[in-house]
Amino acid sequence: MDAEVEIIRLLKSEAAGYVSGQALSTALGVSRTAVWKHIKNLRSMGYAITASPSKGYVLIRPLGAGAQDAFNRVEVSSILTTDIIGRKIFFYPETGSTNTRAFELGRRGEPEGAAVIADRQTAGKGRLGRKWASPPGVNFYTSVILRPKIPPEQAQRFALLMAVAAAEAVSGFSPKRVCVKWPNDILIDSKKVAGILMEMDAEPDRVNFIVAGVGVNINMTAADMPEEIRAVATSIREKSGKETPRAEFARALYSAMEKWYKVFLAEGFVPVVKAWRGYFDAEGRTVKVTAFDRVITGVCAGIDESGALLLRTPAGGLEKIISGDVETVRSL
Ligand code: BTN
Repeated sequence: MDAEVEIIRLLKSEAAGYVSGQALSTALGVSRTAVWKHIKNLRSMGYAITASPSKGYVLIRPLGAGAQDAFNRVEVSSILTTDIIGRKIFFYPETGSTNTRAFELGRRGEPEGAAVIADRQTAGKGRLGRKWASPPGVNFYTSVILRPKIPPEQAQRFALLMAVAAAEAVSGFSPKRVCVKWPNDILIDSKKVAGILMEMDAEPDRVNFIVAGVGVNINMTAADMPEEIRAVATSIREKSGKETPRAEFARALYSAMEKWYKVFLAEGFVPVVKAWRGYFDAEGRTVKVTAFDRVITGVCAGIDESGALLLRTPAGGLEKIISGDVETVRSL
């Protein structure tokens, strides 16, 4: 148990306001002096907690209320409702890439569900060697360690699982329909709102761990976006017209990840692929796919059970694409 997370949970849940030092010390199983030290730490993080000798402690206002959204390890952990995803949070005001950090932590043996979050990435990584714009104060950048018992060739399907989770989470905050672009871009009105980068540590016959990196444009405005992505990117704020507290988004995303991970553990990939198809709107359209050094154009015939993209080519054949980038999609 994380004492500071527990204190914030208890203070937030107390409708009457004050919680006595004794009640906190009993609930946490630590001395009242230890409670006092934790309160001091929380204050230094920005929480306005008032102490009264006769009544105890009260949280005057949640961190960030009326100001920009509260976003730190305690705030995120205190509102999570998951058992696995986010059970341990490594929060950084700034890091190179949360994926790189999670990979190091995975190698060090951190458990399944451990999650890295950063307010800002200085070297955010996208798919196919691209960069991921990661300005501070506005978006959600996270990487989660998972240890499924699967062979490496199934890891790719995990990207679909993460796409379903991310699409479901974004849908909860977007008034507009959320779609997936194969394999795992999340779009609103054909513009990218979130992306997923999966990396894995594996031996030929088994995966040691997977790092599922998810970047979601939450409160970023066009002005915050680098010029080169302005025409193709959007954010939840651009679509909803309001700011979303990032801790709330974290709760939604981790809950959706956990839900779909448990579905996969119980039933395999079939329901995951089915859910993914529900967000996919390119079937029957002409698409152009760049796969390594090949460019293939054809009519999209959906995805197969392994998650590969199926293209019906002008010559009448059916191409199965396991990796690549859907460059353009236009209606027939
Ligand atoms: C893509 O669509 O190209 C994938 C983007 C993935 C971005 C996220 S942000 C959190 C995590 N850390 C990274 O460096 N990349 C992923």
